[in-house]
Amino acid sequence: MRPDSPDEALAVVRKPLAHDSARLHVKGAATYIDDIREPAGTLHVAPGLSPVARGRILSVDLSAVREAHGVVAVLSAADIPGKNDVAPAYGDDPLFAVDEVIFHGQVVFAVVAETRDAARRAARLAKIDVEAVEPAVDFDAAIARGVTVLPDYEFGRGDAAQAVRASPKRLSGRFEIGGQEHFYLEGQVALAIPGEAGDLLVHSSTQDPTEVQHVVARVLGCPDSHITVETRRMGGGFGGKESQANQTAALAALAARVTGRPCKLRLDRDDDFIITGKRHEFRADWSVGFDEKGVVSAYDVQLDARCGCSADLSTGVVDRAMFHAANSYYLQDVAIRSRRLRTDTVSNTAFRGFGGPQGMLAIERVMDAIAHETGRDPLDVRKANLYAPGRDLTPYGMKVEETDTLPALIDSLEATSDYRARRAAIAAHNEGHPVIRRGIALTPVQFGISFTLVHMNQAGALVHVYQDGSIHLNHGGTEMGQGLFIKVAQVVAEEFGVPIDWVRITPTNTAKVPNTSPTAASSGSDLNGMAARIAASAIRERMAQVAAQMWGLPVDGVTFREGRVFGGNESISFRDLARRARESRVQLSEAGFYKTPRLDWDRATKTGRPFLYFAYGAACSEVAVDTMTGEMRVTRVDILHDVGRSLNPAIDIGQIEGGFVQGMGWLTTEELVFDAKGRLRTHAPSTYKIPVASDVPDDFRVALFDNANREDTIYRSKAVGEPPLMLGISVFSAIVDALHGLAPGRQVPLDAPATPERILFAAEALRG
Ligand code: MTE
Ligand code: MOS
Repeated sequence: MRPDSPDEALAVVRKPLAHDSARLHVKGAATYIDDIREPAGTLHVAPGLSPVARGRILSVDLSAVREAHGVVAVLSAADIPGKNDVAPAYGDDPLFAVDEVIFHGQVVFAVVAETRDAARRAARLAKIDVEAVEPAVDFDAAIARGVTVLPDYEFGRGDAAQAVRASPKRLSGRFEIGGQEHFYLEGQVALAIPGEAGDLLVHSSTQDPTEVQHVVARVLGCPDSHITVETRRMGGGFGGKESQANQTAALAALAARVTGRPCKLRLDRDDDFIITGKRHEFRADWSVGFDEKGVVSAYDVQLDARCGCSADLSTGVVDRAMFHAANSYYLQDVAIRSRRLRTDTVSNTAFRGFGGPQGMLAIERVMDAIAHETGRDPLDVRKANLYAPGRDLTPYGMKVEETDTLPALIDSLEATSDYRARRAAIAAHNEGHPVIRRGIALTPVQFGISFTLVHMNQAGALVHVYQDGSIHLNHGGTEMGQGLFIKVAQVVAEEFGVPIDWVRITPTNTAKVPNTSPTAASSGSDLNGMAARIAASAIRERMAQVAAQMWGLPVDGVTFREGRVFGGNESISFRDLARRARESRVQLSEAGFYKTPRLDWDRATKTGRPFLYFAYGAACSEVAVDTMTGEMRVTRVDILHDVGRSLNPAIDIGQIEGGFVQGMGWLTTEELVFDAKGRLRTHAPSTYKIPVASDVPDDFRVALFDNANREDTIYRSKAVGEPPLMLGISVFSAIVDALHGLAPGRQVPLDAPATPERILFAAEALRG
């Protein structure tokens, strides 16, 4: 590949182009899986769910289901030709429950019928008899039972507990952090279409087509090569379609195998809530040692995660919580311990940030606690603890090389948000207003970029130039609304020096680019952008040679721009050169492959480098809290976020806004309630409140921090997908700040999410 051109010379990269599907989205013409025209004879699948959380299955009577109107087949574990397992790694997620059920809503059987309505009605007619046992639902029950889904894990430095005891000041506490439902607008859905001789095409709304391919093949007992998975786009994934798409796809695929007809499963929203995993709830038991200035000398935290009934992705999720338990702060002596608790509830999974937000929220809570104890401004405490040269080792031993970015970013935001003057104004306001209290907080984010499982940091792309000069782009990344496809298309258009609309974006397909990683860990454009550039660059190189030969010029004098190819005094259209290349029998197709350099984290020895770099950001949020009702409003938000040198500032700002609002929702209104029987009681928008347009702060200022990535990433950009979610922590911290004013110096008893009830209880406790 050529080195990057200077920014002024870039024609497509860095331009704020609209999402490639924006017009289709608005017109309702973007094809989601449920919009694909159904092949003749398509059948519909509905799952039958366990009525209790845990127990031995005594009998399953499906006779009424079989006889119901429109039913073509009823499926259970006995119909599976391969393995009854849809788990991503540890073999502990059966497609259908057998002998025992392990959570309320677990799939026990499935109905295949002529219509979706018939399938859903029939599914209700089953008689499932379970000898129920008392489920372990909450932290205390899980800890008392002492069963984990995966072994405990810890890392750290020095003797943290001893160092806390030896510190001039210390605090300790317990903080509980709620989970979160993904609430993608398009729910889980798959359409499986049988081909000849056992071939199967599965349209799946998944972040991980390769995983769906592999799991479907495993369930059907056939080679991966018989299964093709295609994903044009998702209506949101947010981590909830990384492993959780497996079951829906496997059910549709099994139905298609058994009936020989195309089969579709689109989960009803309530079922989607109940059947699929969510963000892990966490409980942090912490103690911290510090000095009069609030500088931390020791931090000891036990992070307990409520994983649900199986392991799923809890290795990576809880590890990432641990990796982010220090956020952007240097902790001299530190112990970060974790337990992956098993509960008899749905298995929790990836969710934007992958545990990082939970680990980070805990230490931010601690920073506020230190500020309240020392009487210093929380921002000053945070600044005093940031990584700095010589104080740059993370608790997992990786050196932070980029220690200058975050302090500069925070200083800039502190100035542009007018933090100090507003803090004074808020204090003055609160003097005269005992009921409506205002609060402000400026909190940082330092998020590690790369999959912490090193082998996952790889990607492939497939680029063709056709003889008319039009370009076909395919890669292993999936589009879930985040704008990955337009970014990668920009990279390819830049490489060939053609307008963006010459590059045809095509659906992710396991037959084109195999063995991919999920689109996750925010790594989509880092990985696929590079793979696509490598492929395009190889083709361009060959085309340049054709032109050079034609003109009798050296190849390095050939340039591509504005849809033409130039050399010396000659030029030819890109299209004509493509035709010439074909006539000269030059290959105009290429598969690109990229793997992230420098990564060598070893989980067993707890050494090495898990991240290529960090993405940074900070947010300053101001809130008004009604201390008589617990109601809260976010009145102003200022964000400064580091996306390196942006590939597409319009897309990146959209990701920052959306991520922030999703994080704010997690910490304020979104509350998952499981009852004592392990049933999720909040499984629809009527009881589970995500932020809507009216919750977005009226005064919402988002800016990009100009900062080229020091690592050699695609056009020196940085990943943006997940980090902004953690900017929402500033809202939680601002609420804490508002409440703290009721009883200065006392600790604010507030767990997450800060719902109106919790805010009210905290206010009452502080007023005493
Ligand atoms: N943005 C939209 N609109 N929809 C989504 O589902 N998922 C987020 C983030 N932004 C998501 C999103 C998550 S969890 C991740 S990991 C990244 O996008 C994945 O895409 P990327 O790697 O291309 O950034
Ligand atoms: Mo994102 S939680 O890594 O899919």
